[in-house]
Amino acid sequence: MAAIAKHTMRMMLTASLSLPVSSRSASLSAKRFLYNQYPTKSRALVRFSCRSVTTDTSKKKKEKEKGTAKEKRRTRSLRSGEEEDSSSSSFTTSTSVMMQQSHVPVMLGEVLDVFSSHSKPLSAFVDCTLGAAGHASELEKWFLGQIIQSHPELKLFIGMDVDPLALRMSRSRITAVSHSHPHPNFQALTFLKNFRHIKSLLAQVDHISSGVDGILMDLGMSSMQVNNPDRGFSVLANGPLDMRMDPQASLKAEDILNSWPDSEVGRILRDYGEERNWRLLQNKIVQARLLGGLHSTGELVDVIRSATPGTRGGRQGWIKTATRVFQALRIAVNDELKTLEDSLFACFDCLAPGGRLAVISFHSLEDRIVKQAFLKIISEEGRDSVKDQSKVEGKNYQKESWIRQTIQGWNGTILTKRPITPSEKEESFNRRSRSAKLRVIEKL
Ligand SMILES: C[S@@+](CC[C@H](N)C(=O)[O-])C[C@H]1O[C@@H](n2cnc3c(N)ncnc32)[C@H](O)[C@@H]1O
Repeated sequence: MAAIAKHTMRMMLTASLSLPVSSRSASLSAKRFLYNQYPTKSRALVRFSCRSVTTDTSKKKKEKEKGTAKEKRRTRSLRSGEEEDSSSSSFTTSTSVMMQQSHVPVMLGEVLDVFSSHSKPLSAFVDCTLGAAGHASELEKWFLGQIIQSHPELKLFIGMDVDPLALRMSRSRITAVSHSHPHPNFQALTFLKNFRHIKSLLAQVDHISSGVDGILMDLGMSSMQVNNPDRGFSVLANGPLDMRMDPQASLKAEDILNSWPDSEVGRILRDYGEERNWRLLQNKIVQARLLGGLHSTGELVDVIRSATPGTRGGRQGWIKTATRVFQALRIAVNDELKTLEDSLFACFDCLAPGGRLAVISFHSLEDRIVKQAFLKIISEEGRDSVKDQSKVEGKNYQKESWIRQTIQGWNGTILTKRPITPSEKEESFNRRSRSAKLRVIEKL
């Protein structure tokens, strides 16, 4: 009996993906029927039913013709990128001011769409990675539609960052924007905190016991951090082997390179840098200990260059290897992957019903964690499970053109079955955006 239910449900779900919108109600009725007939066995399958919101087949054909079919695993943003384009003038090439060089937010327009008026009104919003507050507030022309300014209903804005310099810069910007905010009781609070502590932090804030309406995580480093050689994040500028996002933290990159067990150094290069040449690099790093160890990014780069065969891509070859090694060390120093995984669950718990969590990641390891955590979150029955299936079926995302395909679960809906990537225009003027992926989940 269970096998029949399973088979029938699979057939129906497969068919429902290719149905036009008007026919989808039949598929929902079918699901309802199976729920009633085989409540436990069919649940797991229905839970992961994918709902295609874009059903225009002629559009799909055109996309194929244009060759976009190869981009199956992602959804490129269709935004014009106009708002970002005008930012290029904010860049300065002077090295003396590189440290202060403004950070150009990635997928700004797309983030604004996620929290647009079609979603739940934003009464309380948390930016977990404030940085210089590009996503949270900006005074320049093209930022006018930003989160704080474009939501007059916003009563509470909370910003977090582990970097005191970023926090200081964002505070002055937020204060400037707050003064012109129309809500009489608008409050902006900023905290020097790791987002892994979001739950305990929000527990101390008044008036949000039922949760917040929006949370943003814009992962990785800001341009200010990368462009400051003293932080040790840059492959091309010499500086100390630091790489701490939080300057109060005790572990630095040089501690790992000079005193961690050989096998751990190798594991980091292999697992966090996905570096094929990890064993040779591990040996070279360990050998360097005999000569006093590595203490600057320049010294590390020299080791990497000596371990990268000239035949492997020339200058590009060692730069690519160095980028992977730096990424690996940064992930280890800041415990980025474990922190991210734990924080995604914590963030979801902090959302009010209908609230959304948007995450922008910059490499495949992060994106995989976000993807898997979202799938786990929506399928966990223990996690604020929604028993009222009508609540799920009543959702209508047609008004939000950025939502293409969704995945429905017990506790929430993944609004990005495939991650959204920047428009071609944004990629062309902001190199940092090239690897960005945006994933969004909504709590039921
Ligand atoms: C890409 S930047 C954010 C940029 C910002 N959204 C903007 O548009 O200006 C990432 C920021 O997150 C911060 N950060 C990274 N990991 C963090 C963590 N675990 N907790 C809090 N902040 C973190 C970094 O210090 C950095 O300032």
